[in-house]
Amino acid sequence: MTATKPAHVPLDRIVDVDVYVPPELEAIGFHRAWAKLQAENPAVVWTPRNEGHWIALSGAALHDVESDAERFSSKIMIVPKSVGEQHGLIPTTIDPPAHRPYRVLLNANLNPATVRGMTDSIRATAIDLIESFYSAGYCDFTAQYAEIFPIRVFMAMVDLPESDAPMIRHWANCMTRPGMDMAFEQAKQAFFAYLGPIVLERRAAPGEDMLSHMLDADIGGRKLTQDEAVSLCTQSLIAGVDTVVNFLGFVFAELAGDAALRQSLIALGDNLTPAVNELFRRFGLVTIARTVSNDIEFYGVTLKAGDMIAIPTAVHGIDPAFNSDPLKIDLNRQRAPHSGFGSGPHMCPGQELARREVAVTLQEWLRRIPDFTLAPDADLSPVPGIVGSLRRITLRWDT
Ligand code: HEM
Repeated sequence: MTATKPAHVPLDRIVDVDVYVPPELEAIGFHRAWAKLQAENPAVVWTPRNEGHWIALSGAALHDVESDAERFSSKIMIVPKSVGEQHGLIPTTIDPPAHRPYRVLLNANLNPATVRGMTDSIRATAIDLIESFYSAGYCDFTAQYAEIFPIRVFMAMVDLPESDAPMIRHWANCMTRPGMDMAFEQAKQAFFAYLGPIVLERRAAPGEDMLSHMLDADIGGRKLTQDEAVSLCTQSLIAGVDTVVNFLGFVFAELAGDAALRQSLIALGDNLTPAVNELFRRFGLVTIARTVSNDIEFYGVTLKAGDMIAIPTAVHGIDPAFNSDPLKIDLNRQRAPHSGFGSGPHMCPGQELARREVAVTLQEWLRRIPDFTLAPDADLSPVPGIVGSLRRITLRWDT
């Protein structure tokens, strides 16, 4: 998978970086690894890893790539390119203007009012999980909370049985992490085979769930086709699950070692929105990519049509050019630009839901367990993938 340097790549822009395992990841952790790489290199660099591609390392370069769908296409949005070519899911791999109708559909089903209406059931799910292990004074936070909570919320939204959740999570992992037991294409086909009959049933007998609403909606004078519906639902399941799971992991690993931060969050009561934004700034975790549409000059280099450029979204929020002392979690930050949810046409339509899931988790957890530490069997080693991840967060507290 290592590529030879193309003629248009200058020698002084070459770094030896696997974007899924940035240098020193094991030693200094995901965000510090990206911060170091950013501090030591130009805004745009090229790596021979993952079939050879550019990386936008500065916050400005990253933001420019994400916001400009004309110069940077989403048709292939994962490196290595040979894997990205198999992706093809809606709406992630569609450029504007064709992308727009699908987004209208997603936005209509994930908007703030809809999410507000789900808050009670999100809260009930959080309380149910926390109370299931509270009296033990110990939990495997990853397995007993983070991996269950967002998928339970999402399965309820689309009215799918919760018992299918582990299977879905496994397929989602196979599509976002190297070295799994199913290849990307196999896992995608498993999703399609599972969702195909469900889409047919929902069309015949619609319910009050998000999937039924999307199937019934008008997109430019027509309804979603079977293939479109299956693809859109697959993408939403992948995007809405692994991200929240791993984001919660980074946040709780941090909270376990920072009593002052826990106290500050508790003091905020129900007014957690700015604090949650600060956490999303600090813990960006998705690394995706774009395909260069035409030959262009960009941050001092020539990008050729067809070149891939990786966009590790973490680097915007932790760029000192945008946020001073960026690795510090400062709940009083007034303006904190970041790309944790991306930007431009593909900016995450699920961000309101994600924020609500995190805020409710913090409220209900800290209300019951204000003090906790990492347990001795915690394993904070990183798991490589499109979504940054810590292997296993186990926690303990006094009951
Ligand atoms: C920690 C939580 C989350 C993070 C960090 C996150 C991050 C992102 C990012 C960076 C993108 C942009 C991808 C691109 O530019 O190509 C994105 C897109 C997307 N996200 Fe999220 N996301 C989160 C939660 C969710 C949730 C809860 C849903 C619920 C369904 C969701 C659904 C989607 C979908 C469908 C897209 C594709 C949008 C498009 O291509 O137009 N995400 N997300």
